Amino acid sequence: MTELNKIALQIISNGKGILAADESNGTMTKRLDAVNVTSTPENRLLFRETLFSSESMRECIGGVILFDETINQITSSGKSVPDLISSTGATPGIKVDTGAKILANSSEEKITEGLDGLRERLKTYYKLGARFTKWRGVYSISNKYPSELAIYSNAHALARYSALVQECGMVPIVEPELLMDGDHSAEVCLSKTSEVIKRCFEQLIFHKIDLTGVILKPNMILAGNQSKNKISNEEVSKKTVQCLRDSVPNEVPGIAFLSGGQSEIEATKNLDLINKNNNTEFKMTFSYGRALQQSALKKWSKNNKDIKDTQITFNHRAKMCSLAAQGKWSNELESK
Ligand code: G3H
Repeated sequence: MTELNKIALQIISNGKGILAADESNGTMTKRLDAVNVTSTPENRLLFRETLFSSESMRECIGGVILFDETINQITSSGKSVPDLISSTGATPGIKVDTGAKILANSSEEKITEGLDGLRERLKTYYKLGARFTKWRGVYSISNKYPSELAIYSNAHALARYSALVQECGMVPIVEPELLMDGDHSAEVCLSKTSEVIKRCFEQLIFHKIDLTGVILKPNMILAGNQSKNKISNEEVSKKTVQCLRDSVPNEVPGIAFLSGGQSEIEATKNLDLINKNNNTEFKMTFSYGRALQQSALKKWSKNNKDIKDTQITFNHRAKMCSLAAQGKWSNELESK
């Protein structure tokens, strides 16, 4: 077993998943505005520190993805944020892309940037304690999209990013996200997601990536949010497993889904069924942002001094996601 494979498995095994707390300051400001909290570095840290010091970190969270601001912050106890996370047994990770920009010659699509100076930034993050990283490629679905140009250029960037990350001794999370915006059917989502994932792995293999030291972070297979033909949770899970079985090389140790705008319960239920129907060797877990933090953020915004209540809310959500990552979640446990 290589060191990278060991790190990847540690993050996603035994019912553990990833807390995606890597919202950029712009995105975090939107989230805080929505609950009437002023977005300052202090408030962003206070909320995140509340989550990172929750009890469920030990049992349910294998890794936390941070944003550049957060990995450099010092908590109220004097520990750095990565040290706080490591002290719970979870692995600190870092988002290293610099965001999705308009793709030249296909102006309605995006290309993710951040390769310039990445090798040096990675060394700094490693010294700060990061052992895994994230890069998100984003694709829209319509009759003409994602275009060949967007599929190829994002796959190429994901592969170059992964090579640099592994060179630095860290595990890359490869995140090709096909957005749920639109009126497309689940079948269209399935065929386009499969194509994008296959093309990403072609590039990863071409760039000599050790696939045993990679975590894939895909979207689930859903009908578009404007579609009139929604499919059942059971169908979501079956199509999602089918997509991954057919498009992900067997060496990859695991898959950690994004929640992508699903509600907390929807994302939990779908993950649970994915695990109940998982006929692959891949570990299938969560790497949720909104679907882990939404309720906790609401609770915290009412009284940010009431750390206990926020942690109780977060612990419940993390526990439910962890049960779902083992196919052991149920409605009864949810409402206990
Ligand atoms: O890149 C996406 C985030 O890490 C996951 O966020 O679960 O809210 O889609 P989400």
